[in-house]
Amino acid sequence: MGAKKLISTKSSLNGTIKVPGDKSISHRAVMFGSIASGVTTIENFLPGEDCLSTIACFRKLGVKIHQDGSNVTVEGNGLGGLQESETILDVGNSGTTIRLLMGILSGRPFHSVLIGDESIGKRPMTRVTRPLAQMGAKITGRRDGEYTPLSISGGSLKGIEYKLPVASAQVKSAILLAGLQANGETTVIELEKTRDHTERMIRLFGGEVSSNGNAVSVKGGQHLTATHVNVPGDISSAAFFLVAGAIVLNSTITLMNVGLNPTRTGILDVLIAMGADMTIEEYESTTGEPAGNITIKTSSLTGTVLSGDLIPRLIDEIPIIALLATQAEGKTVIKDAAELKVKETNRIDTVVNELKKLGANIVATEDGMIIHGKSGKLKGETVSSYGDHRIGMMLAVAALVCTGEVYLEQSEAIAVSYPEFFTDLHSLFL
Ligand code: S3P
Repeated sequence: MGAKKLISTKSSLNGTIKVPGDKSISHRAVMFGSIASGVTTIENFLPGEDCLSTIACFRKLGVKIHQDGSNVTVEGNGLGGLQESETILDVGNSGTTIRLLMGILSGRPFHSVLIGDESIGKRPMTRVTRPLAQMGAKITGRRDGEYTPLSISGGSLKGIEYKLPVASAQVKSAILLAGLQANGETTVIELEKTRDHTERMIRLFGGEVSSNGNAVSVKGGQHLTATHVNVPGDISSAAFFLVAGAIVLNSTITLMNVGLNPTRTGILDVLIAMGADMTIEEYESTTGEPAGNITIKTSSLTGTVLSGDLIPRLIDEIPIIALLATQAEGKTVIKDAAELKVKETNRIDTVVNELKKLGANIVATEDGMIIHGKSGKLKGETVSSYGDHRIGMMLAVAALVCTGEVYLEQSEAIAVSYPEFFTDLHSLFL
């Protein structure tokens, strides 16, 4: 596909958007539905490419899944209902699919082979395979198990206590999913709290999980029961419109049904710290995940510092926060975020390179970046998502405040998490 011409120099954005379902929760709803007994129904599922990869993998493992847009039905037969796939399981671009699936497959008495796309082939896997091997799984892969293709022979597992060397919900979740199948108890101790959707979903499916400070424990041999999952909107998708509303002149945008799980709301803390004109109306949660509506208006912003335990609460929003910082008065420093290097792309490099092309004053550091805001208007240029959905959406929002024409290469990557992104964005132009 050739470069897409983006809409630039917008003078206002107005309207209401119901952002699509949360990606992390949609993956987990399909996975838990597949290992629970009975028929799970999922409402507001995200039909993005990543979550469709999860459905495709579980279908290959013998689970009957019916998907019609954002409505999904999963016919689970318990963990024992999963069957060896005759072909390779392809996770596409999805880190959550491959890492959580490894946790599930570690306890299954059969052989599986996992692959993904070029980006997945560069992402570190020993952070997951090491604890799973300690529990008893046999996992091999390219470069000593660091990269795909990976091969897993699962079987009987023993519970472990494991200190996570990196703040990662994917690693935590893989260990907990293996722990549900292990003998005895499994405890994961986190350095910093990461998103807790897996823990909440174990409870929603009738299982037990206990938390004590930064330690999370599950007992093995639990049976999960099918349920209804109503997926809240994805705050990581809402983030693009929160920033668009704050930086484009004469704008008011309302985002409906946004997930407000406190392990994910770091972006809201940053917007407030920078002075955003924003109101949040939280409502009672019915499905174990808090949600609400957010309205944001054009704001007068100042730079800030992002570091420490705030980082895991906004790790996926750093690309769009970097753009926000270019439109603020003064300096913004992002540190303690070396994990950005092992996302869908090296997001320190891709954010800094592409925003620099548009004329931003931004420099990469070892564990983040430094942005000097309002140092001249952003200008038109040809930029690329490098196949990374969040880089693509950040650049589409950047274009709104650029003078001159902006072209985006590899815009199709946006379908990984937000297939209707441009339709929703353009609805704000009317
Ligand atoms: C996710 C966890 C995070 C996040 C990713 C989704 C999840 O990754 O960046 O987009 O669903 O558990 P890490 O666990 O690698 O930090």
